[in-house]
Amino acid sequence: MAVPATLWIYLMAVYLSGSNGQMVQMDAIKSGYVGSQVELHCLFINNNPAVKISQVTWQKFLNGTKQNVAIANPTMGVSVLNPFKERVSFKLPAVQEKIPSLEDTTIVFSNLQLSDEAAYICEYTTFPAGNRENMVNLTVFARPMIQMIQTALTIVAQPSSPKVSVATCLAANGKPPGVVTWETTLKGEPRTEEIPHSNGTVTVRSDYLVIPSREMHKQKLTCVVTYNNDTTIDTIMLNVQYKPEVKIVGFDGNWYLNRPDKLGLTCKTEANPPVTHFEWKLLNGSMPAGVEILNNTLSLKGPVTYDLAGTYVCHATNSIGTSSGQVEVNVTELPYIPNDRVSQERHNSGLIIGGAAGGIVVLLVALIILFVILRRRQRTFKGDYSTKKHVYGNGYSKPGGLSAHPTLPKNLPYGEDSDDEKKTSQMGGTGLYERSDRVFDDDDLKRPYFTVDESESHEYEERSLAYPYDHEVEITDDMVSQTDGSVISKKEWYV
Ligand SMILES: *[C@@H]1O[C@H](CO)[C@@H](O)[C@H](O)[C@H]1NC(C)=O
Ligand SMILES: *[C@@H]1O[C@H](CO)[C@@H](O)[C@H](O)[C@H]1NC(C)=O
Ligand SMILES: *[C@@H]1O[C@H](CO)[C@@H](O)[C@H](O)[C@H]1NC(C)=O
Ligand SMILES: *[C@@H]1O[C@H](CO)[C@@H](O)[C@H](O)[C@H]1NC(C)=O
Ligand SMILES: *[C@@H]1O[C@H](CO)[C@@H](O)[C@H](O)[C@H]1NC(C)=O
Ligand SMILES: *[C@@H]1O[C@H](CO)[C@@H](O)[C@H](O)[C@H]1NC(C)=O
Ligand SMILES: *[C@@H]1O[C@H](CO)[C@@H](O)[C@H](O)[C@H]1NC(C)=O
Repeated sequence: MAVPATLWIYLMAVYLSGSNGQMVQMDAIKSGYVGSQVELHCLFINNNPAVKISQVTWQKFLNGTKQNVAIANPTMGVSVLNPFKERVSFKLPAVQEKIPSLEDTTIVFSNLQLSDEAAYICEYTTFPAGNRENMVNLTVFARPMIQMIQTALTIVAQPSSPKVSVATCLAANGKPPGVVTWETTLKGEPRTEEIPHSNGTVTVRSDYLVIPSREMHKQKLTCVVTYNNDTTIDTIMLNVQYKPEVKIVGFDGNWYLNRPDKLGLTCKTEANPPVTHFEWKLLNGSMPAGVEILNNTLSLKGPVTYDLAGTYVCHATNSIGTSSGQVEVNVTELPYIPNDRVSQERHNSGLIIGGAAGGIVVLLVALIILFVILRRRQRTFKGDYSTKKHVYGNGYSKPGGLSAHPTLPKNLPYGEDSDDEKKTSQMGGTGLYERSDRVFDDDDLKRPYFTVDESESHEYEERSLAYPYDHEVEITDDMVSQTDGSVISKKEWYV
C-alpha cells in the first residue's frame, strides 16, 4: 500500500518541481508492534530556493484534536514535548545540532505504545509561501499471548453426559485479534468468544467441547493461532481418567481334579490412573486354603480340588472408583473333551470316510464348491484379471514358510459364505491373487495353521473365548478338500 502512495508523491514532486511549488512527502500509513521502534518520515520538497523554512511542527491528531509532539526551528533548535520526550527524537543529527537544514525532519518513535496509534501531521511553515503539511497514520499492533490449558477430564458415569470443554486456547490481548482454529480427530466443536479490552486489544478464548468418552484418552488436540503472518501451534494429549474396566481371565472351563498344569486367575484391568488396589472375594464363601493371592493374580498352590469351585470376584480400585469382575469356577472329576474335537480326531485319525459313502460326500462337497464359486465369480472379484493372474497348481505353498508344519494339510481356502465374506473384506490394497475362481490375499498365505494334533492346549481356548484377553482369537472350522479328493478338517486362528 505504501508503494503506490510513494509513487504518487514522487510524481507530485516531479510535477511540482516543474512548477514553482513545495510539498511535504510522507508515508500514508505506518505500523509497528508494541514496544518496537518506528520511523515516521517527513521530507520537504522545494524547487524554489527563495522559499525558506521558518519552522517544522509534528502533531498527533486524534479524535479531531491536535497535540504537539516536536518542533524544529532553524534558530531556536529542536524541542520534543511531554509526554513524548523519552520516546521521540529527530532522526538526522543535523536537526539536533541546530544546523538549519530542515529538509528531512523524520522522527523516530521508540517503545511504541497502543496509545500512540493516531495520525501524525508534519507541518512546514515557510516564508513567504505559507504552510505545507502532510499526514501519516500510525497503527500499533499487539502480538497476542498464546496459551493452551487442558481441562481435567474425569469420566465417572458412562457417556450421555453433556458436552464439556477438554481444552481452552487463549490468544490474549491481541491487536488485531488472533484467529484460533483447532486440529484434531476428536469429535467435538469449538466455542469461541472475543473479549475486547479498553486499550484496543482483544482476547480470543476458544474452548473445545466434546461429549466425554473413555476413547479420548491419549488423543491429540492441536490449537492453531494465526496472527498477522505468524502461526503458532500448541498440541496436547488428552488425559482422560476413568475407573477400572475389569475382566478375570485364566479359567478355561476345564478345571478337573488333579489337573497337572499351573493354574490360576488373573484380574485384567484397564484404568487411568492405574489400579492401586486389588481385592479378591469368593461369592457366598471364604477363600479356599489352596489359593495364593498376589495383587491381581490368584494362583493355585496345589492340585485342583472341589474346594476351589465357586464364583470369584475381583474388585479393582483406582482414584476414580472401584469396579469388579467375576468368574464362576466349577471343578469336574474328569477332563472335558469337546464333541467337535472328538469328531476332528475321527476325521484326522484316518481320513476314514472311505468307500461309497465317502465318494458321495466328496461329490456333494464338490457340487457345493462349484455353486459357491459361480456365485462368487459374479459378485466378489473387483481386481484386475489381466494383470494379477496367478494360477495355482496343487494347492499353494511358500518356501520355508509352511514347512514348519509338516502335518499341514494342503488347504485350499474356500469356506462358507460368511467366512469368505470376511476374507474378502480383509483385503487391503496388497497383492491379490486369483486362483482360477477365487480371490484371496497374501495374509491367507501367511496366516498360521494349526492341525488338531498339535493343538492339545488350544482346545481350551476354543471353549472359552474370554481367555485370550489381549488378542481376539476367532476360530473357525472348515471342511477342506485334498488334492487326492479326500476331505479333511482344518482349524484356523485369525489373530
Ligand atoms: C476518542 O473518542 C472516543 C469516542 O469517540 C473516546 O472514547 C476516546 O476516549 C477519545 N480518545 C481521546 C484520546 O480523547
Ligand atoms: C488516516 O486517518 C484519518 C483520521 O483518522 C483518516 O481520515 C484517513 O482516511 C486515514 N488515512 C489513511 C490512508 O488511512
Ligand atoms: C491491554 O489491556 C489488557 C487488559 O487490561 C492488558 O492485559 C494488556 O496487557 C494490555 N495490553 C497492552 C499492550 O498494554
Ligand atoms: C506478511 O508477509 C508478507 C510477505 O512475507 C509481508 O509483505 C507483509 O508485510 C506481512 N504482513 C504482516 C502484517 O506482517
Ligand atoms: C449369595 O449371597 C448374596 C448376598 O450376599 C445373596 O443375595 C445370594 O442369593 C447368594 N447366592 C447364593 C447362590 O447363595
Ligand atoms: C503388590 O502390591 C503391593 C502393594 O499393595 C506392591 O508393593 C507390590 O509391588 C505389588 N506386587 C506386584 C508383583 O505387583
Ligand atoms: C462349568 O462352567 C462352564 C462355564 O463357566 C460351563 O460352561 C459349564 O457348563 C459348567 N459345568 C458344570 C458341570 O457346571
